[in-house]
Amino acid sequence: MSDKRAIGVFDSGIGGITTLDKIYDILPNEDYIYVGDTLNCPYGTRPKEEIEALVTNVANFLIKRDVKAIVIACNTATANSSHLKKLTNIPIIGVINPTADYAYKLSKNKNILILATNATIASNKYQNRIEKRLFKKGKRYYVKASEFVPICEEGLMGTDYALEKVTEKIGDLKDKNIDLVVCGCTHFGLLEKEIKANIPNATLVECGIPTGEELKKVLKKKDLLNDKKEKGKITIYTTGDPEYVDSQIKWFTKEHEETKKIHL
Ligand code: DGL
Repeated sequence: MSDKRAIGVFDSGIGGITTLDKIYDILPNEDYIYVGDTLNCPYGTRPKEEIEALVTNVANFLIKRDVKAIVIACNTATANSSHLKKLTNIPIIGVINPTADYAYKLSKNKNILILATNATIASNKYQNRIEKRLFKKGKRYYVKASEFVPICEEGLMGTDYALEKVTEKIGDLKDKNIDLVVCGCTHFGLLEKEIKANIPNATLVECGIPTGEELKKVLKKKDLLNDKKEKGKITIYTTGDPEYVDSQIKWFTKEHEETKKIHL
């Protein structure tokens, strides 16, 4: 069987496009509907109830579009999404567990820095997933870094300001022999240069590859893969200003239509 329906992917803004980019490499023959809830970005400094309500709105939009699965390409939304199971029976794939598991396997000395939004760190989802491995060695550093989100949304990567902000946050972790940094916010891969400038010997792990692999596994198991031979289509929606979004995602090189505006 081949399921031609699109896959829904969403984030509070443009960060999830870094995840979509990798997912598309893994599943290039699928169609994708991406929603960036830019109007309400950031999610990571809001209380839990507010994040849950925003997540419900975006999920409902995607469910109405008859998507066959939803990827929550946002750690903050993933950490506040357990209620979505009541809305739909389609598979919902979050970014936290696949990324935490992937990072755990990859790190050799188990000195791991997990950078995420304030709400993600406060949810303890990364801590619970990683620490249940009962490491006998190494130390994990869980750092709240919601300040990085606007830097990415406003396209300030590569500026002195961005480097200053990132250094302020993680500069004192330079000598901790950290071998792996988890970008526990889908925006943060955009700050690779600034993170590497502070923790030069660490491998950076983003959510895209582990989440894409997990999505592929789930679709295969449920017989939901699209067997078409042509490349899949990517449609991007924003609750904010579509022209601004297009100007901020020039780094996204996969073919896609112009971003469209939606009201949720
Ligand atoms: N990209 C989102 C994440 O992965 C966070 C951005 C926000 O705070 O809205 O957590």
